[in-house]
Amino acid sequence: MKNRRQLLFTGLMLAAASITAPAHAQAPAAKLKVGLMLPYTGTFAALGNAIENGFRLHVTEQGGKLAGREIELIKVDDESDPAKATDNVNKLIKRDNVDVVVGSVHSGVAMAMARVAKQSGTLLIVPNAGADAVTGAMCAPNIFRSSFANWQPGYATGEAMVQRGHKKVVTITWKYAAGDEMVGGFKEAFQKSGGQVLKELSLPFPNVEFQALLTEIAASKPDAVFAFFAGGGAVKFVKDYAAAGLKKSIPLYGTGFLTDGTLEAQGADADGILTALHYADGLNTPRDNAFRLAYAKTYKLQPDVYAMQGYDAAQMLAVGLAAVKGDVTKKAEFAAALRKARIDSPRGTFTLSPSHNPVQNLYLRQVVGKENRSIGIASKALGDPGKGCSM
Ligand code: PHB
Repeated sequence: MKNRRQLLFTGLMLAAASITAPAHAQAPAAKLKVGLMLPYTGTFAALGNAIENGFRLHVTEQGGKLAGREIELIKVDDESDPAKATDNVNKLIKRDNVDVVVGSVHSGVAMAMARVAKQSGTLLIVPNAGADAVTGAMCAPNIFRSSFANWQPGYATGEAMVQRGHKKVVTITWKYAAGDEMVGGFKEAFQKSGGQVLKELSLPFPNVEFQALLTEIAASKPDAVFAFFAGGGAVKFVKDYAAAGLKKSIPLYGTGFLTDGTLEAQGADADGILTALHYADGLNTPRDNAFRLAYAKTYKLQPDVYAMQGYDAAQMLAVGLAAVKGDVTKKAEFAAALRKARIDSPRGTFTLSPSHNPVQNLYLRQVVGKENRSIGIASKALGDPGKGCSM
């Protein structure tokens, strides 16, 4: 039994505790777990790393916390392999219990992720992959994109090629959703104005044996070529195109991925290439300049479109989280905040379409030295078609 002195001491301690810890004080909020599902190996490895860098930069600028919750990143290398994508995203959701998934680069991987996100209700922010269906037939209140729909840069590039007077074009791409859909967007704009597509060439992802296809291009005698490749594959394509002697005679165009994050490796072989994309060098806005400076200081690298999309994925997460005070179970409020948000992106401010894809300017860019220099706007405030989306 306690004596009087012990009781008195206990009472004093309790009183002191109640002064330092008032009754309404709460335990610190648990960390918010973000599953980063990106390619860290293969032809898109550099793209995955740039997205992670951009994402981390925004979180660091916010002091490591969004809406008061410390951010913990859990990473998976998806290898740009759609066959492994369902298992990979399920690991993040079921084993690691992440609150949000951010990924990926490859359209086939992203479609598998969207399927799982739609079924499980887990928040998904896509920081690159353009699969039209993700903000089309597969759209959902918990799925968002900080990048583009494949149709958008394809369509904008087609408009730019019409404007430059091209009439007969050969297209070339990897045969999968991203290539098919970018070529689809290109054809829509190009054929609408009477342009003729002489041949649609392709090879399986991620193959880079271009020789036979380059021979076919030469034989078709088009007045221009439209291409989609990215990452390591884009480096090799642009170099092979020049080495085959085509650069001198047949102007090469593409969606901006053909020359973004690749110019160091492509060197002079990329000089002069025209592309359309929702980002460019030389925008020279205070917002973009600040982002570029911070990125360069942190990583000793220049940012590219992928870094910018990763940064904006974190900005979008921050907007949603702020609206629900860090409580990701409030999905309707999270979505409502993003639907009315204006995201202060380095690319220029953007809003989301009803299917949760950026409505944005597509810049016309020309390679000059190591830059994809903006030379104007190819398509202004272009949305995604959002075909088949109902939510
Ligand atoms: C895609 O698969 O959607 C994709 C991949 C790489 C890019 C752009 C799109 O640079």
